[in-house]
Amino acid sequence: MQRHREEASIPAWSSDEFDSPVSPHIEPAYFDKHLEAWVLSRYEDVLTAFRSSSLTIDSKRPRTTEDDKAMDRMREETREALSPAQLRVWSEVITPLIQARAQQLPEGCPVDLLDSYLRPNCLDLAALVTGIDPQEAARLRTLAGPVSAAAAEPYDPTLRAKAKSVTPELQACFHSKAESLRDSGFVALSHTLPCMLANACYALSQNPKQWTLLHLESGLVEQAVEELMRHAGLGRFLRRQATGDLIIGDAFIRKGDRLILRIIAANHDSARFALPNELDVCRRGAGHLTLGAGPHACVGANLLRMASVAMLRPLVELFSSSGLTGPVTWHGGSGFRSPKYLPVVLRRNVVS
Ligand code: HEM
Repeated sequence: MQRHREEASIPAWSSDEFDSPVSPHIEPAYFDKHLEAWVLSRYEDVLTAFRSSSLTIDSKRPRTTEDDKAMDRMREETREALSPAQLRVWSEVITPLIQARAQQLPEGCPVDLLDSYLRPNCLDLAALVTGIDPQEAARLRTLAGPVSAAAAEPYDPTLRAKAKSVTPELQACFHSKAESLRDSGFVALSHTLPCMLANACYALSQNPKQWTLLHLESGLVEQAVEELMRHAGLGRFLRRQATGDLIIGDAFIRKGDRLILRIIAANHDSARFALPNELDVCRRGAGHLTLGAGPHACVGANLLRMASVAMLRPLVELFSSSGLTGPVTWHGGSGFRSPKYLPVVLRRNVVS
């Protein structure tokens, strides 16, 4: 099976694209001979894979016990660095800056929400969290561009080579105690986070009633962030490799087999989410897989939640609706896609 996949050797289903006219195709696990991997798209199957102790993150060279120990240390170190108390401190610093930027957004005329709001806010946060000189932040974001581009399209060797060439210079600029809050954290916050939030704002702009609902009830913003991560999530797939035999659904997976977990498809599985293709900011019981799940789930999750709430709340509090001014140009690739620009018109009054 190879439905909606243009390139045989690249795991990118066009039905998983956010602007796709058809919804993600969800099916039982099957072995894809072109990808040489099992493909999982049902929510239950993907969650089982995330939680399985017989699967490890797929890497080019076999993972050793030392790799696993280093990863455990990194997770622990990140958890300490992102303690609830620390997140509160950052939130108190960043929120007034974000609110001031929201106040400056024009009403009733086109504005690029990415350039005028999401990117600068995320850059301020990236500088704060990684402890770099804020004056250096814009230069480092530009330097980090190829790293983000390669993550968005991991199958492009040219992008990979460019990313590799800038990495040493980038790494030398970060000195945070926790490894995940150095160059990789900076890339995630200054490049990946604006992409994720651009998808969220695009989804809300396409669903004006949902935006207006948040305007009228801003107490819904926290749960809306979870729903937006589900509905408009970013990463398209993750990889795993079996360290022992296991069964997922009806698939008998052998030690050494590779797996592709289709995150976006799983987040739109009607067996798990009622009316999965609809954005419903009142939906309860998140459970999305956008930030992974199980032992390797994103350790930056609470930071991302804090940042997403801090950026969405002032927008929906100040403005009652947002409308796209025209078609959106997308960038990225099989890793993740998001709008390149987000030209919208914001309005303050509720239109009945
Ligand atoms: C929008 C930005 C981000 C997205 C979409 C994202 C998403 C994810 C996902 C899906 C995973 C699971 C990977 C897997 O299961 O193979 C993951 C893992 C991870 N994330 Fe994030 N992440 C983001 C930002 C961050 C930030 C800012 C940090 C640190 C400050 C971070 C730290 C980590 C770490 C350390 C892991 C590895 C966990 C492990 O393998 O044990 N992430 N992330």
